[in-house]
Amino acid sequence: MHRTHTCGELRETHIGQTVTLSGWVQTRRDFGGMTFIDLRDRYGITQLGFNEEQDKELNTKARSLGREFVVKVHGEVIERSNKNDKIPTGNIEIKVTAFEVLNAALTPPFTIEDDTDGGEEIRLKYRYLDLRRNPIQEKLILRSKLNKAVRDYLNDAGFIDVETPYLIKSTPEGARDFVVPSRMNEGQYYALPQSPQTFKQLLMVSGLDKYYQIVKCFRDEDFRADRQPEFTQIDCEMSFVERDDVLNTFEGMIRSVFLSVKNIDLGTIPKLSYDEAMRRFGSDKPDMRFEMELIDLNSVTKGHGFGVFDSAEHVIAINVSGGNKYTRKELDALTDWVKRPQIGALGLIYCRVNAANDYKSSVDKFFDQQQLALWAKQCASKPDDLILVLSGNTEKVRKQMNELRLHLGDKEGLRSKDKFSACWVVDFPLVELDEESGKWHAMHHPFTSPLPQDTEKMTTNPGAVRANAYDMAINGMEVGGGSIRIHDKQLQKRMFELLGFTEEEAQAQFGFLLNAFEYGAPPHGGIAFGLDRLSALLAGTDSIRDVIAFPKNNMGRDIMIDAPAPLNAEQKKELGL
Ligand code: AMO
Repeated sequence: MHRTHTCGELRETHIGQTVTLSGWVQTRRDFGGMTFIDLRDRYGITQLGFNEEQDKELNTKARSLGREFVVKVHGEVIERSNKNDKIPTGNIEIKVTAFEVLNAALTPPFTIEDDTDGGEEIRLKYRYLDLRRNPIQEKLILRSKLNKAVRDYLNDAGFIDVETPYLIKSTPEGARDFVVPSRMNEGQYYALPQSPQTFKQLLMVSGLDKYYQIVKCFRDEDFRADRQPEFTQIDCEMSFVERDDVLNTFEGMIRSVFLSVKNIDLGTIPKLSYDEAMRRFGSDKPDMRFEMELIDLNSVTKGHGFGVFDSAEHVIAINVSGGNKYTRKELDALTDWVKRPQIGALGLIYCRVNAANDYKSSVDKFFDQQQLALWAKQCASKPDDLILVLSGNTEKVRKQMNELRLHLGDKEGLRSKDKFSACWVVDFPLVELDEESGKWHAMHHPFTSPLPQDTEKMTTNPGAVRANAYDMAINGMEVGGGSIRIHDKQLQKRMFELLGFTEEEAQAQFGFLLNAFEYGAPPHGGIAFGLDRLSALLAGTDSIRDVIAFPKNNMGRDIMIDAPAPLNAEQKKELGL
């Protein structure tokens, strides 16, 4: 037998028992005639004690054990003289009577401890060692719990888990495809699914009614902290539903998941229209953990001879509660921050609210105390607040203000990782104009239906058509998105026309789906959540890499297995490459 207990299990109640434990040597400490070893497994750490006086040979042998050796020990649970209240097994130790080295180990390239000395590259190269560390194991355990909570909820709600293929044809999500050459069909390629979108719609045509799948998706996109080229979706679709049926079902899922994994009730999740989200937060995934909303200052800033404001489409402010504490130097740093190319603002105007009716702004030349009082009124500012103002093209200035708002939220400690705030954003635009090509692009994908009351505008004013689409954002991160689909052939045809697909192109790319729709497609809609993103949020980490067992680095490489790699000549020939 390799073990009677795990390394996290023994307590004072076990004192006097003879036990067998197996695990890895975390540390060895040699004191005169005594040797202590911390033995580690997934469940915890137990201290082993060896005493030269009692067994010289055993003690000498113990001193040859290196870090990460795999050992099996046999001994008696005794009370520890030097107790450690930081670990659950800290009141006991094992008085070892025999042990066996199950496997020796090379010295690991970094310390396998909560705070390791290893840099990210080396830890990714030896990911299997990095995965021995507690903080990483805890994240994988949390992800596993999340997985279970999702499955429990969806199974209880009558969803059926169906697998869809990975070797398919280009899907409609709009990123670049990863492709796989076909040996048997030379010169032809499969595409890996960017999502199971078309298949889940086909399953609705098949009458499956409620589908889900926890599924890998593949997108050849540029790297970001919240993006990986292969990632996992909780993918769902339902028949005979309207928007609120879908939102209620998945609001229920997210709330139930947060309750079971974190014991947190998210409460009713508010709905914002896309327009409202952009107006109030400058973002379609607003961070609702804090207020500091965008305030339109057009009515109190125009016509006072300040050209920057007068020529701007929009003058927008945020009010930083208690922000008057920022020094001149800090305000200069904020100005430099918004002027960086990533943000792209031309400058930052401020107004200090020293006291009621006592203002100091960077545009005092153009605005007197009375006029600044109107700013403060508009912003509902209180003494000691700070008003920050950006101006320019509406869309751009909103985006810049969103960045500034999040930056100040961080500075002011308003974005705690222990706090969670979710929202739905609904009524997205159906299409957006690609400036370069002058073509309309589907904001979600071409099967997203327009709001019924907006369909007429598809010909007259496509930019103003709202989609029956929705996203969920938590703490400013897009965690899920979906839509009610088009199930009517005529409407789908109009959509393809709007997107500039010829009938042949539409048929070539999505003919299988359009044909299926000829055989009785039910009204349907669905959603997909990013499992990696949800795990990262719940684990309180910024990067989804931390919650993926074997992630890619920022060049899309797996540096542990060294992929991608060249093919040899024979393989290439066989594949006709
Ligand atoms: P969408 O493209 O919005 O929708 O994707 C759904 C969710 O998947 C997550 N996600 C990602 N996570 C990590 N890395 C990536 N590269 C990545 N890309 C997306 C996000 C996102 O909200 N078929 C539609 C869903 C539908 O309409 O039902 C789709 O895939 O959290």
